[in-house]
Amino acid sequence: MELKDKVAIITGGGQGGGEGIARVLAREGARIAVVDLNLDAATRVASSIDPDGKRAIAIRADISKRADTEAMARQTLEAFGTIDILVNNAGVGGASALVCDVTEENWDRVMGVNAKGILFCCQAVIPAMKAQGKGKIVNIDSIAGIRMAYFSSVDYTASKHAVTGLTQHLAWELADQRINVNAVCPGGILTPAIEAYASAEKREALIRRTVPLGRFCKPEEIGEAVSFLASDRADMITGQMLAVDGGTLTGYGEDLRAVLRQRLQEEQAH
Ligand SMILES: NC(=O)c1ccc[n+]([C@@H]2O[C@H](COP(=O)([O-])OP(=O)(O)OC[C@H]3O[C@@H](n4cnc5c(N)ncnc54)[C@H](O)[C@@H]3O)[C@@H](O)[C@H]2O)c1
Repeated sequence: MELKDKVAIITGGGQGGGEGIARVLAREGARIAVVDLNLDAATRVASSIDPDGKRAIAIRADISKRADTEAMARQTLEAFGTIDILVNNAGVGGASALVCDVTEENWDRVMGVNAKGILFCCQAVIPAMKAQGKGKIVNIDSIAGIRMAYFSSVDYTASKHAVTGLTQHLAWELADQRINVNAVCPGGILTPAIEAYASAEKREALIRRTVPLGRFCKPEEIGEAVSFLASDRADMITGQMLAVDGGTLTGYGEDLRAVLRQRLQEEQAH
């Protein structure tokens, strides 16, 4: 158990990728604060990890509100006495609009959660990490934070590039406090929200075009990467973006492997 008795906050832990992260960190021995806008969802996940509430608690917070993030840190300290790990997972999708149709309201909502929310959560937990002389922050970014994602809109891409900037800047600024800051950049994660958004047929077509490993990521597979970066094994790693994307950032999907094979066969035949 790599995270035995460490205390981890997971924002947006009430469903999807955040739920997968909470389950893997709990399996590795961490005590978990499941934080979500939706308290029922957070409670469902926390009580399925530990019905007694000794090793997992649920906290309601809107991470785009500073007072909520301060209360989140306070409640975690009251329950567990320390904060070792912050996983900034909560995030919202973009506007589903082309650039000229993105409204100010949309822009503020996406940047408010995906970028400002991470700043507020970090500000809320850094004093506790500084006091104990060590900490791990893992931001759930996206491959859209490394390269623009054509399946999303400009507000989402910009917000995830902000996560990349926050990760690198905080890694540098907090290094002398022994607080490591890294990001995990998922490609497609197969969550209930994605299943509702795109039909199986559409998902398969997207996978063939863009994912060399031929499938979407499971929520727990994001958790495995987070668990490593949050562990003592990653003490020398900071400021990094780890893509968990089945190879999507290579730029080509599995359907182009046939083209490569055919080309090689033709060359061998000559
Ligand atoms: N699903 C994907 O394919 C995918 C791909 C790349 C990156 N990501 C990133 O992974 C993270 C999780 O994505 P997901 O697909 O699991 O999302 P999801 O929509 O399934 O779950 C997000 C959770 O965050 C909570 N949340 C939303 N706004 C909040 C706020 N202001 N304060 C607190 N909680 C809030 C929601 O209630 C929900 O429980 C996000 O940062 C997302 O951008 C997802």
